Amino acid sequence: MKRIYLVYLSVITVAFILAGCAKVKEDIPVIPSVSVHAEGIMQKSSPNFHGKLISNNNWDMKQCQSCHAANYSGGTTGSTCLTCHSQPAGPEACNTCHGDFRNPAVIYPPQDTKNNTDPSVRGVGAHRLHLNETLMTNGKLVDCSTCHNVPPAFNSPGHIDNSPHAELIFSGLAAKKTNVPGTMNYTASQPTIEPNPQYDYEKIECSNTYCHGAFKNGNENNVVKWTDGANGAKCGSCHGDVLTGNPAPGGNHPPSPNCGGCHADVVESDGAGGFRIKDKTKHINGLLNVFGSEREY
Ligand code: HEC
Ligand code: HEC
Ligand code: HEC
Ligand code: HEC
Ligand code: HEC
Ligand code: HEC
Repeated sequence: MKRIYLVYLSVITVAFILAGCAKVKEDIPVIPSVSVHAEGIMQKSSPNFHGKLISNNNWDMKQCQSCHAANYSGGTTGSTCLTCHSQPAGPEACNTCHGDFRNPAVIYPPQDTKNNTDPSVRGVGAHRLHLNETLMTNGKLVDCSTCHNVPPAFNSPGHIDNSPHAELIFSGLAAKKTNVPGTMNYTASQPTIEPNPQYDYEKIECSNTYCHGAFKNGNENNVVKWTDGANGAKCGSCHGDVLTGNPAPGGNHPPSPNCGGCHADVVESDGAGGFRIKDKTKHINGLLNVFGSEREY
């Protein structure tokens, strides 16, 4: 891929050299006016597709700007990027390279930077499961900033770098502390849990996050694979017993199995002797919901 880009650059260079020589040596044949770009610049399936040229150049668009103008309006080429890339930031809009090109509100994969959409690919993974599209109108389920630093602009430092993967920098809910002195259910005989969220790039796994078990009476050692789909969130995996699927927490939690009796705002009977989540906004929200009220714990 990189080679194609170089070839295209060298075509330009050769053209310039030949143009320069032509002044000196009149007998050199004049090159017919060829397009600056190789064929396929507008065909998504072509190796010469302009998006691929940019991706192969580690997403650097300065080269393009030198001819197409700093604001991509066309400059001396007369060929603007903005008819197709029509958002205020033009091709630097957040959904150009990842997310949904047709919907500026969706800037996260399923479509990753290599145009994959299969959740078993790491760039895609469980984004959709965490950012539930049906909830977009009332705010995203999990904010990007829980797992990434979100760049304010395309050119912000830390966004595109030479690392082969996206950076995972956890904050907020992922690192939420529990059993904090002074909270209603503080238990002095148990430690305060301070999650130290980690992402293992080799295994594609997350560990030590509040959301997946690093909380009071939760499964602190639970590890989840990013590309494992809904398997990563089985009942019992974050609290309780993953083998039986029984979600009853350990530690000093009351041993009664009737979850709905005390957590009525969060769960309801599933009609088969177990419980299912009734209100997702109250589950994994960082607050303990019990006896009809929600609080820090
Ligand atoms: C005729 C329409 C058109 C023009 C003109 C155009 N683009 Fe695109 N561009 C597209 C389409 C369509 C895509 C593919 C979007 C998708 O489906 O992922 C795309 C993709 C891209 C991508 C993302 C590549 C990727 O693999 O994710 C970048 C970056 C980009 N264009 C930059 C530019 C720049 C810079 C210019 C001007 C020099 C430009 N485009 C001109 C239509 C256009
Ligand atoms: C040396 C100057 C030059 C550079 C550098 C350059 N372009 Fe172009 N580009 C042109 C010219 C001139 C045209 C007009 C059509 C032609 O001659 O091919 C054009 C046309 C295009 C088109 C076709 C638009 C259409 O409507 O068909 C796209 C897409 C495009 N360029 C993308 C890019 C991208 C992306 C880059 C950076 C990787 C880039 N160009 C770098 C000069 C340049
Ligand atoms: C629950 C954690 C989590 C959340 C929330 C999250 N991401 Fe990610 N993101 C990841 C992981 C894990 C990867 C894969 C890293 C790897 O191994 O390459 C990733 C990768 C990416 C990539 C790179 C894709 C590629 O092509 O390699 C982009 C872009 C991205 N995320 C954008 C976002 C945006 C934008 C949001 C918010 C709308 C978001 N993410 C929310 C965990 C998350
Ligand atoms: C020209 C392509 C392009 C545009 C435009 C773009 N991104 Fe990205 N983005 C990438 C690539 C490539 C990566 C992943 C790899 C990396 O870190 O180098 C990425 C990664 C990310 C990540 C994962 C964390 C990280 O930095 O690795 C987030 C979050 C993100 N982008 C948000 C945004 C936001 C917000 C915007 C708009 C302000 C934006 N992106 C515009 C190409 C783009
Ligand atoms: C008799 C009332 C009662 C029943 C029944 C009950 N809980 Fe709780 N639950 C509590 C109380 C009280 C706390 C706060 C415990 C603490 O942190 O000291 C709590 C806390 C929790 C927590 C947060 C972690 C913790 O222990 O602080 C989870 C998870 C939880 N319950 C799940 C369940 C599930 C699943 C069931 C059903 C198997 C269930 N609970 C049944 C009263 C109950
Ligand atoms: C992805 C991890 C995860 C899974 C899977 C999970 N829980 Fe939880 N659960 C939590 C966390 C974290 C809390 C701590 C309180 C909070 O943030 O809402 C919690 C708290 C609870 C509570 C206490 C009420 C509350 O939210 O404060 C109940 C009841 C509960 N879970 C039931 C269930 C049931 C039933 C299942 C299976 C259908 C289940 N959970 C699966 C992470 C999980």
